[in-house]
Amino acid sequence: MRILLFGATGFLGGRVLERLLDERHEVVAVVRDPAPLARYGTQVSVVRGDIAVPSTYRGQGLQCDASINCVGLLRGGFRGREYARVVVRGTQAWVKECQEAGIQHVVLVSANGADPEGPPYARTKWTAEQAVRNAGPAWTIFRPSFIIGPGGIVEQFGRLLKLRVLPVFGRQDYLGEPIDRDDVVAAILASLRSAKAKNRVFHLGGPDQVTYREMVDAIRRHTGTKCWMPTLPRSVGYAMAGTLGWLPFFPATVENLRLLFKGNLVPERDVELVLGIQPKPFEASVKAAVEGLHGAKTA
Ligand SMILES: NC(=O)c1ccc[n+]([C@@H]2O[C@H](COP(=O)([O-])OP(=O)(O)OC[C@H]3O[C@@H](n4cnc5c(N)ncnc54)[C@H](OP(=O)(O)O)[C@@H]3O)[C@@H](O)[C@H]2O)c1
Repeated sequence: MRILLFGATGFLGGRVLERLLDERHEVVAVVRDPAPLARYGTQVSVVRGDIAVPSTYRGQGLQCDASINCVGLLRGGFRGREYARVVVRGTQAWVKECQEAGIQHVVLVSANGADPEGPPYARTKWTAEQAVRNAGPAWTIFRPSFIIGPGGIVEQFGRLLKLRVLPVFGRQDYLGEPIDRDDVVAAILASLRSAKAKNRVFHLGGPDQVTYREMVDAIRRHTGTKCWMPTLPRSVGYAMAGTLGWLPFFPATVENLRLLFKGNLVPERDVELVLGIQPKPFEASVKAAVEGLHGAKTA
């Protein structure tokens, strides 16, 4: 198949690109900065573009069988304006351009907890989903819980743990169901082949429910880092994020904490029944992610 991919320079999209090439698909990747894809040479057709500015990629050989959108942001900027621009208007523009290029199937990576009443991250994800559901092409929406792989949160926490003190906040009753990145990618690729995946939302969670402390602690153990993890009240977390969260290097904004404390359990597991994906256990996933990160650094 010929696939139009957005977000190919990211943690998830980068792995989607690798697996698409492994499976001998032809890929057109729309990216803001082509440099990270230079290593693929002529294997990938690269178009420089911003998803929210369709004139940057319109008419650039977009005629494909399907398109996958792995674009995302963790910080929404002032009053969530960047979420509105990239997640909402970007998704609307992407799906419209796909339709005009005659693409038959669009795949959107959204997030577990997408919610019209939620904070800006969750709300803009939900609005973006509506644009996909209401457009012409067949669609598939994936809503992952935390994604574990070499990079992403494993790398971010790996860096924070090196500071030797990393607080966890409040009673550990906010659970997540982290899922291995390769399982997310397998589900995305399976959706391209399966008629049963069309016009459906899939929630993606791993087989284990873990607290935030357990998640960070697993990364600590597998990286072999010594770190003190004191428990502080949630109000202290909010105060810290409220004061420092605007700094780009500070790990969390108030909104990130609100989402974290809400929990990240998936409501259903259709992906196992419909697409035959059996997600890896959490510990095996963290271990492989840390080894993968280590391998990437020593390679
Ligand atoms: N990672 C997780 O744990 C997790 C959990 C649930 C859902 N998700 C969702 O999964 C998707 C992928 O996440 P990720 O972790 O791979 O994020 P990521 O590593 O931050 O990658 C985001 C990608 O989006 C691209 N992008 C951002 N703004 C863009 C724009 N205006 N135009 C074109 N491309 C743009 C980035 O390109 P640049 O390289 O140019 O910045 C990058 O390729 C997102 O929708 C995210 O919300 C992730």
